[in-house]
Amino acid sequence: MSPLSYQHVFEPGTNSAAPPLLLLHGTGGDEHDLLTTGRSLSPGSALLSPRGDVNEHGQLRFFRRLAEGVFDFADVDKCTRALAGLVAAAAVRYGFDAARLTAIGFSNGANIAASMLLLRPESLAAAVLLRPMVVLDPPQLPDLTGKHLFISSGAQDPIVPPDHPPRLAEIFRRAGASVTLHTYAAGHGLGPPDFAAARRWLDESRS
Ligand code: MLT
Repeated sequence: MSPLSYQHVFEPGTNSAAPPLLLLHGTGGDEHDLLTTGRSLSPGSALLSPRGDVNEHGQLRFFRRLAEGVFDFADVDKCTRALAGLVAAAAVRYGFDAARLTAIGFSNGANIAASMLLLRPESLAAAVLLRPMVVLDPPQLPDLTGKHLFISSGAQDPIVPPDHPPRLAEIFRRAGASVTLHTYAAGHGLGPPDFAAARRWLDESRS
């Protein structure tokens, strides 16, 4: 199967200073969910937005789980590598700068972005992880020096256990990445403080 057979949207960039974005929706979403978010977080960025190809009772996501928070690790591995394949093939097809690719992922989309950094680190330069949890905690970490991560978590998130965002930040810091962890009074859903903080972080990491 060609990596480009993932259903996806690509919007060319209009500002070469803005990094290309990989938009990764949450469970039950699709490739259109984060287009407006991507445009407002980083105006002028090229946008690559795939549709998750794992169908969980009609809800699309990026890898299989056995239950809420219980993951199928073989599938996480397989799907992470498949998505990295899409990114590499799309960079050639559309001509965006893969070395600057920044993921913006929500929930399951944030989780697969984190898995990409851990299993195929060359496929992302940076990531904004909105409501992620710890899926992989590999005993052997890649060298993520020079990678930048922003994590936004909700202090009252009923899905993400409260120790997960700081654990995830710690995993990435141990691997050498620079990590900003933003936590505020919110549940699993996103709100204006997520977008304001992510936009600020993206602006600062660009300057
Ligand atoms: C979800 O609902 O998507 C979970 O919170 C995250 C996941 O299963 O990856």
